[in-house]
Amino acid sequence: MTVKGQTNLAGLELVDRDDAGVDRAFRADVLAGLAQQQKAIPARWFYDERGSELFEDITSQPEYYPTRAETEILESRGREFAEAIGAGQAVVEFGSGSSIKTPLLLRAIEPAAYVPLDISGDFLRAAAADLSDKFPGLPVYPVEADFMRRVELPEEVADLKKLGFFPGSTIGNMIAPTAVDLLRNMAATLGVGSMLLIGMDLVKDTQILEAAYDDAAGVTAAFNLNLVHRVNRELAGTIAVAELRHKARWNDDFARIEMHLEAKSEMHFEVAGRPFTLKKGETIHTENSHKFTARSANMLLTAGGWTPIHRWNDTEERFSLILAQSAPPRSAP
Ligand code: AVJ
Repeated sequence: MTVKGQTNLAGLELVDRDDAGVDRAFRADVLAGLAQQQKAIPARWFYDERGSELFEDITSQPEYYPTRAETEILESRGREFAEAIGAGQAVVEFGSGSSIKTPLLLRAIEPAAYVPLDISGDFLRAAAADLSDKFPGLPVYPVEADFMRRVELPEEVADLKKLGFFPGSTIGNMIAPTAVDLLRNMAATLGVGSMLLIGMDLVKDTQILEAAYDDAAGVTAAFNLNLVHRVNRELAGTIAVAELRHKARWNDDFARIEMHLEAKSEMHFEVAGRPFTLKKGETIHTENSHKFTARSANMLLTAGGWTPIHRWNDTEERFSLILAQSAPPRSAP
């Protein structure tokens, strides 16, 4: 393995824990979310070890098309990526990468370096090691960081052109103001003249969308309910998991799939010593997954400081990979 220039990988944890080992940000998010009129827990907390495993399982369910659709694009359009992007870039991946998608991109464009960014040192180390094995000649510079903020890149890639890579339509998990903040921070991280290759899932038939988030095997339901197991385990929760039902529904006004956990009966429980009640039929909102049209995708990217220059869809037009260029300073007629 030839992972170089490891940044903050010497066991320094980014997670802020109290004396009892509780993740302070997790507790704050859950307590604030459960105190809201519409109870909510941010989707980023899905991804503990079990949650990450369950997400992997989701991607192979027959109803969950996004991963297959995006992979199809990456597999079939390598030539076009090479032409549009060019060789010799430092590929900066926001998130520590999947063992399938990232190699497809790297193989197509012959980059000069690969820089995975992730808040989880464990996922980052695993991904960096895997990538180095597959691409022995490629320098890999993992950076343990919260990519929602501006990140300082390793000085070894300072003189290379940057290509940001943000697959999976993870941007769809964010409401518009958060997505715009992230896109602007990506532009600041990557610098003047950089490019971004971003996956965005498309609006389509409601039944197809709802099925993708409520598969027959119940894997997405387990993924959603795992969040409650995590709250019970890490935050001294007493939530009766069996009294909650997984729900996935299309919200047409906001063009998004929402996942909720619905109380089958009136529920009383504690989290971190505080009491909460769910009425029968009341929900905890756990995820938004926004879906885009060509125009809404362009609007969001433009608002975030990126000019779309290329779009590739899968053959069934379910999913887009969009290449954008960091926008020049604002000028408008
Ligand atoms: C990880 C954001 C791509 O929104 O489709 C899958 C997460 N949630 N099934 C998505 C998810 C439920 C997923 N992303």
